[in-house]
Amino acid sequence: MGLLPSRREESLVKPSASISSAPTGRRSSLKNRSVIFGLMAALFLFATGCSKDGMSTWEAFGPVAQLQLDLFNVTMWLMVVVFFLVEGVLLYAIIRYRKRPGQPRPPQIHGNTTLEIVLTIIPTILVMGLGIWSVFVLFEIDKPPSDGPTPLQVNVTGHQWWFEFEYPDAGNGKKIITANEMRIPVDRPIQLSLFSDDVIHSFWVPKLAGKLDMVPTHENKMWFQADSNKIDEDLPVTLFGQCAELCGIAHALMRFRVTVMEQADFDSWVAGYSPPPTITDKAKKGQQLFATNCTLCHTIDGPDDPALSASRLKGFLTGADITPVPAPNLTDLRTRQTLAAGLMDLNETNLRAWLHDPEDIKPGNYMSARAVLYQGSSVSLDEEEIDALIGYLLDLR
Ligand code: CUA
Repeated sequence: MGLLPSRREESLVKPSASISSAPTGRRSSLKNRSVIFGLMAALFLFATGCSKDGMSTWEAFGPVAQLQLDLFNVTMWLMVVVFFLVEGVLLYAIIRYRKRPGQPRPPQIHGNTTLEIVLTIIPTILVMGLGIWSVFVLFEIDKPPSDGPTPLQVNVTGHQWWFEFEYPDAGNGKKIITANEMRIPVDRPIQLSLFSDDVIHSFWVPKLAGKLDMVPTHENKMWFQADSNKIDEDLPVTLFGQCAELCGIAHALMRFRVTVMEQADFDSWVAGYSPPPTITDKAKKGQQLFATNCTLCHTIDGPDDPALSASRLKGFLTGADITPVPAPNLTDLRTRQTLAAGLMDLNETNLRAWLHDPEDIKPGNYMSARAVLYQGSSVSLDEEEIDALIGYLLDLR
């Protein structure tokens, strides 16, 4: 290479000569051990980053995620090749042409037009190629294919700190509003409209699509689809989602799930979404407690009434101490897997712990801040009342 100083034969010293003077014994074995430890730590971090479980972008379950993953893979591996090529040449030059004792000052050179043109053209081709491909991918993932199945519309609203899912027509014109757990039929495009009622959140299900912000007073649209031929497990399969924009104290605890199911199972969930059919005597007491303490914010008998939702939002935005706030719709609670925005499994023990002290489980949540029940030093319900409330809540569907 013209840029590198020419090597003088007479000043050549065998590399082994300088290596032989390296320190030996305890100090070098300590050094070796730290190098091995460093390499192992790096390998461990690299390996954990590659896990395909949970929130992983390394496994695509649908066409949108697949296009994004392909683009990412090509970009990353191209850059890995460029990195090792450039660093390799650099290291080679540093070691092979290092200063040696008695060596005269090498010839001083400046510039090499051919090399500079080549080194400008290669990155330009790489960046232009990736840029043009990215634009094509952006167009391709913009809308669901028009020749495929009719997309299912889902409106998603981000709240501090949980997700609301509204299906304006889940099937046969039936409207469903639920929280933190989204159900979708397999092999069908899901058209999402994203909103926020307070601050900026971000909607992200890594295995289905990249993240997109949920912005107050502005609708953002995206779509995804779960493909049966990309999922090698039996349905239903539950995927993890998470708010990906710092949105306040409980941001890290703002999770959700997406359950991919056969269309028939989805239809029976839709058909089963209704007010509670029968309530046990014990649960009847819980029902009364719920009516007096919880209904200012929570709905339990079908989709939220738009006027009521608006008044809850107004209450939240005016910020007075005890006012209604938007809260998860609990209509189909018994059929859900989780509690507190995907934080814990829904079962009696966890529900009891949650009702006793929600602040301990999810610091900053609006239930402990606003509900009259939690304004004292502990919840203003006795154990029997909590039992009744749990009985009622776990009956809800
Ligand atoms: Cu919502 Cu972070």
